Amino acid sequence: MSDKTGILLLSHGSRLDDGEEVIKAYKEMYAEEFPDMPVEYGFMEIRKPGIPETIKKLTEENDLDKIIVVPVFVAHGLHTKRDIPGLLGIESDYESHDDHGHHHHHDHGHDHDHGHHHHHHDHDDEPVEFDGEIVLTDPLGIDKRMYEIIKDRVSEHL
Ligand code: NI
Repeated sequence: MSDKTGILLLSHGSRLDDGEEVIKAYKEMYAEEFPDMPVEYGFMEIRKPGIPETIKKLTEENDLDKIIVVPVFVAHGLHTKRDIPGLLGIESDYESHDDHGHHHHHDHGHDHDHGHHHHHHDHDDEPVEFDGEIVLTDPLGIDKRMYEIIKDRVSEHL
């Protein structure tokens, strides 16, 4: 009888509130359009709720077979390729670059400036516990709908 899919919208996480306002708004839009689909938002680091506790919330409140995790990131990076699969306890196709001598645990070459020391694994020590299927989707990527937004942002200042 359990035949249900849950959705986790995943944001990076920040000490500032702006990112939560955004991901929360998307979560609410999704919940409004798909009222039968359990949906939550969470953060990969820095901010609560983290990945394991969000999965826990989804699975405690719903009888789920499957969770679809959407990283609401623009592009793949080490977080989506390595850290998020690690936190979800799923297979990753990320290959470390030990052979180039510049990969180690916390050196994940950030392309965003959060000026913090990362603690990827110590704020959510509990592993994800879920017997069903976890699917991690691609990030938003290259899409004309995003390009339209870029043009809007420019045109607002022309
Ligand atoms: Ni990060």
